Amino acid sequence: MKLILFGAPGSGKGSLASRIKADYNIPQISTGDILRDNIARNTEIGKNISEIMKRGELVSDELVISLVKERLSEEDCKNGFMLDGFPRNEFQAIELDKFVSIDQVIFIDVAFNEIEKRLTTRRVCPSCKAIYNTTNYFKDDCEECHTKLIQREDDKISTVRNRLTVYQNETEPLIKYYEKKGNMFTVIGQDTADMTYAIVKEQLEKMLNNKKKAK
Ligand code: AP5
Ligand code: MG
Repeated sequence: MKLILFGAPGSGKGSLASRIKADYNIPQISTGDILRDNIARNTEIGKNISEIMKRGELVSDELVISLVKERLSEEDCKNGFMLDGFPRNEFQAIELDKFVSIDQVIFIDVAFNEIEKRLTTRRVCPSCKAIYNTTNYFKDDCEECHTKLIQREDDKISTVRNRLTVYQNETEPLIKYYEKKGNMFTVIGQDTADMTYAIVKEQLEKMLNNKKKAK
């Protein structure tokens, strides 16, 4: 099962990915996590992208495409994967189409005012990457690995607004790209993460059944 989780910053791509992973055991390829990991390890890549990410802008196509290509060639991606945060513009989408065939694009559609609330109250585990929100999780450390939770540097309100503008200008046009291809499923992500996942799961089951029948 080869999926793209698509949506604005804070629409719930990471939250959905952890639920899909638990049920279908396919790896989540989050370009944001890979890039943040480079910053945390102070690699050459990390040094070059740190300021760009702080501003909430996109890093170069060349870099993310090479990181994704490399990651997708690993053994654990052979039976499927979820791309989270990639592609983010038409150039990246066209490049991706050259080396992989995607079964389903899941577009999580959430209003921007809701997104602003979610992102400014988000907390993440720097160790296992679990995602929380202060509106429904009241501890300071991670439920899974007990690491102290942090707020992402790009979750300040001014940066969140810039990320949403970047999304509107560069990423949103991809909706038309995938609508034309005919493999996009849209879920309105205003309900709880579990309710959103229940709708997505139904669609994934349908897609898998259709794949089986087509064989
Ligand atoms: P990235 O890490 O991909 O961030 P993003 O796309 O901005 O998305 P987020 O991770 O902020 O949100 P999410 O959709 O995963 O939501 P989450 O599940 O956490 O990218 C970061 C940066 O990296 C970019 O700005 C760019 O610089 C660079 N980059 C990455 N990919 C790139 C690419 N391809 N090209 C160029 N540059 C790239 O949920 C958010 C909050 O809401 C959480 O608190 C969660 O608990 C809560 N929540 C989730 N679902 C629900 C729900 N249904 N109801 C209520 N609350 C919910
Ligand atoms: Mg995310």
